[in-house]
Amino acid sequence: MTATDKATQSILIIGAGCFGLSTAHHLASSGYPNITVLDKDSEVPSRFSAANDLNKIIRAEYADPFYTDLALEAIQKWQTDPLYKPHYHQTGFLNVVSNAAPPETKHVIEKYLASIENHAAFRDQVRRVNGPAEIKDLVPAFTGPVDGWSGYYNKLAGYSHSANTLKAVHAACLTKGVKFRLGKADGEVESLLYASSSRQGSTACVGARSRGGKVYLADRTILAMGANVPTLIPSIGKQMTGRCWGVAHIQLTAEEARQLGGIPVTNVRDLAFFFEPDRETNKLKFCHMGGAFTNFAGSKDGLSLPFSSISESRFIPADDECYIRRLLREVLPRFAERPLIDQHLCWIADSHNSDYVIDFVPGTGASLVVLSGDSGHGFKMMPIFGRFVQELLDDGRQSQAKWRWKESKPKTGSVWRSGDSQELAGLARARL
Ligand SMILES: Cc1cc2nc3c(=O)[nH]c(=O)nc-3n(C[C@H](O)[C@H](O)[C@H](O)COP(=O)(O)OP(=O)(O)OC[C@H]3O[C@@H](n4cnc5c(N)ncnc54)[C@H](O)[C@@H]3O)c2cc1C
Ligand SMILES: *[C@@H]1O[C@H](CO)[C@@H](O)[C@H](O)[C@H]1NC(C)=O
Repeated sequence: MTATDKATQSILIIGAGCFGLSTAHHLASSGYPNITVLDKDSEVPSRFSAANDLNKIIRAEYADPFYTDLALEAIQKWQTDPLYKPHYHQTGFLNVVSNAAPPETKHVIEKYLASIENHAAFRDQVRRVNGPAEIKDLVPAFTGPVDGWSGYYNKLAGYSHSANTLKAVHAACLTKGVKFRLGKADGEVESLLYASSSRQGSTACVGARSRGGKVYLADRTILAMGANVPTLIPSIGKQMTGRCWGVAHIQLTAEEARQLGGIPVTNVRDLAFFFEPDRETNKLKFCHMGGAFTNFAGSKDGLSLPFSSISESRFIPADDECYIRRLLREVLPRFAERPLIDQHLCWIADSHNSDYVIDFVPGTGASLVVLSGDSGHGFKMMPIFGRFVQELLDDGRQSQAKWRWKESKPKTGSVWRSGDSQELAGLARARL
């Protein structure tokens, strides 16, 4: 695209979550003058955004090394960009399995390690950690038995306060003149609008209509609705499934939180992962990252979609509670019976091979872009994600094959997850 095109083009972004905000900020910074962002919640961060959370892991090891270099680039931004830096805490990442882990899970740890072990950026940053003595030497605050824990420790990693990052990028977008329309009536998109005449076999998307009937026209429309994207383009359901994980917290006192300050992000792959206590609220956050849960029962079109109201997502499955309590008995037994508070399901758009989908929707003549398939690893890319979209707009086609629209399911499964996904309906729920 030429510079003059850019100077007049209007952009409509649907969804002010991680991908939408990063894209808005990037495009506004690179000279697009007329950007409007819509979101169904009445404020940013949206309660529907997967990234509206105390923290997310920032790390560059991947079972697929393609993402390692991208994540390293993102980490450099987390370390240095004044917009992102205040929210990033490089506490390191301890990635291990417990004694009870199945061999496949142990194997995944080895794959992750292999992606960084011999990478120049990680020289002197990574080491194996085997057994309780080495674990406790690394993290003296772990008082439990940490029986048989083994894996590795990576210093070039940590976490970001993700809700605060969303807030900061939203504020930066406002400074750059990006317009936001939020809330059910004005911001929640009910349908996309298409031109009545088609040209060369394609029908252009010309904007969107909100629930309250507001019409937003734009030269380009960008869908960044996380797991909700099939509600506007059901055909993407072939390549993407809405899935969720359970998130829960325990409340610590200020003194308890102080004792755990600075611990690495700790992922016991077969149990759950957790972070240092949140610096504002003293909460410890936990997530059991198994095969994730689907909600096919919620849709008549054979799609798995998030619940439409926040209250329906306010629980975690009982099995998740078991994993979290087992983890606590292993690592911090004094907290093993604390109530699990702020329980909720966090929804992602899962592609079949965990690759993002960043492409034009076929048949729309480059008027409609979809950003999806975050597959639970999108947040770390927030400082650079918008650039991927800008490149797509500039080039007029997706040159990165991995990120193209896929007409059907690739045959290979994901090697990234432990366990298969389960349907939510009928699962027992954790104690509140
Ligand atoms: C438990 C959990 C842990 C995770 N941990 C990590 C991690 O450690 N590291 C990492 O990198 N990533 C992590 N992720 C993934 C990360 O949060 C996502 O990849 C990222 O948030 C995806 O961004 P998105 O913009 O596609 O979707 P979202 O951030 O979910 O944003 C979607 C937005 O669309 C809006 N929306 C939906 N429907 C409509 C509509 N009809 N009209 C208008 N607006 C609409 C929503 O309100 C929301 O704001 C985790 C996810 C979960 C669930
Ligand atoms: C921005 O784009 C919209 C939709 O194309 C248009 O109606 C509006 O006039 C534009 N605003 C400016 C300031 O150019």
